[in-house]
Amino acid sequence: MSYERSVSAPSHELSPETVWHIQMPQIRFGRDATDELAFQLRDLGVEEGAHGLIITDETLSDIGHVGRVETHLEDAKFAVDVYDESEREPSIADIENCLAFVRDEKGEEGYDFYVGLGGGSCMDTAKTTRAVIANGGGPLDYIAEPTGEGKALDESGPPLVLMPTTAGTGAEISPVSILSVEEKEIKEGISSNHIRADAAVLDPTLTTTLPPELTAKTAMDALGHAIEGYTTHEYDSLLRPTNPRERPVYAGRTPLTEMFSEKAIDLLSGNVRKAVHNGDDLEARENMLQGALFGAIAGLTAGASLCHAMAYPVGNKYHTYHGETIAVLTPASTLGYNAASDPERFASLARRFGVDTTGMSTNEAADALKGEYIRLQRDLNVLPSGLAELAGITEDDVDWLAKQTVDTQARLLRCNPRPVTEEDVHAIFTDALYNWEP
Ligand SMILES: [Fe+2]
Repeated sequence: MSYERSVSAPSHELSPETVWHIQMPQIRFGRDATDELAFQLRDLGVEEGAHGLIITDETLSDIGHVGRVETHLEDAKFAVDVYDESEREPSIADIENCLAFVRDEKGEEGYDFYVGLGGGSCMDTAKTTRAVIANGGGPLDYIAEPTGEGKALDESGPPLVLMPTTAGTGAEISPVSILSVEEKEIKEGISSNHIRADAAVLDPTLTTTLPPELTAKTAMDALGHAIEGYTTHEYDSLLRPTNPRERPVYAGRTPLTEMFSEKAIDLLSGNVRKAVHNGDDLEARENMLQGALFGAIAGLTAGASLCHAMAYPVGNKYHTYHGETIAVLTPASTLGYNAASDPERFASLARRFGVDTTGMSTNEAADALKGEYIRLQRDLNVLPSGLAELAGITEDDVDWLAKQTVDTQARLLRCNPRPVTEEDVHAIFTDALYNWEP
């Protein structure tokens, strides 16, 4: 039990946590689940004639997914507008553009419902837009101090349904929206159960168009959620908040999240090669989408840790994709540094990844996991060999990255299963410059 770790739950008695909780949107999964979107909306109370907005991006308009969803909704007697200017890794300005679109079209009231269609960036744009319209003001009002005003979201707003077209981020079920604050070169999250979607509709037929490189990158994010969730601290290592409302949204692993992590790791590690090398393999795509969902249910309830904390400063400064950043950092952070927090658990993960650990000591088996994970990445042919190849990062950049991680990512670092100092983070970044010889 650690008092330190519980500072995110400010009001508590000094007694250990005994309760865990999971909150999820409604989930509808499977081939052509898109055809049930209108049913899903009606189930959430949206009535015939209601006017909704699809928040998406240009690529998805061009390849026809947006048209498919739009036609389906119009056939079901809804009125639909489309905002297809979501940007990758959205900034405050990107969100403000979407807010301006909504306010121009529908005033402060906004639309009757929202559909976020796309990868994590489109879904985060949709989540943030709906929340800000419902609560008023701008995105910075709801980002934690000192960057923002740190106001709490009181309202969820009208129904929001998210439809992922990548198997990775978990934004469709997560209680967080990640935004980049460009002038400060940081990424910040708005974290609240009010920002969570009401439903997620996951249709693997929307994911076959994802090119190999993005398939690999998003898969590494999904695997990261599963592994970080599996290896984070246990929920009962925290203190119990006096008011259940103050229980943190990332509250540690539970028997339920562990079950989802295990299944997610099996699905993702067993299908990623097929999905990357043959994008039309619908069965592999379906397994990946399911694996990513399960990884998110686990990791984004239990909580991401060190690797995600280190990824945000990298992504913001070098504009790298979240998934490839996670890919590059996972061996040194989650599988390297953190393995010492519970070698037994990492050794069991090695076996889950297919390593034959016969005759190995626990520590050797835990180390072998890192090797196996790197082998998986190399098999995919499209991932960078380290931070150096990712964005030309050198040893000279590591000071800034380490300081920035410690200064801005306390929320995630506090929950890391092994205590971590700036010096440690420095060493891990250095280790991640080269995971293999490029
Ligand atoms: Fe992630």
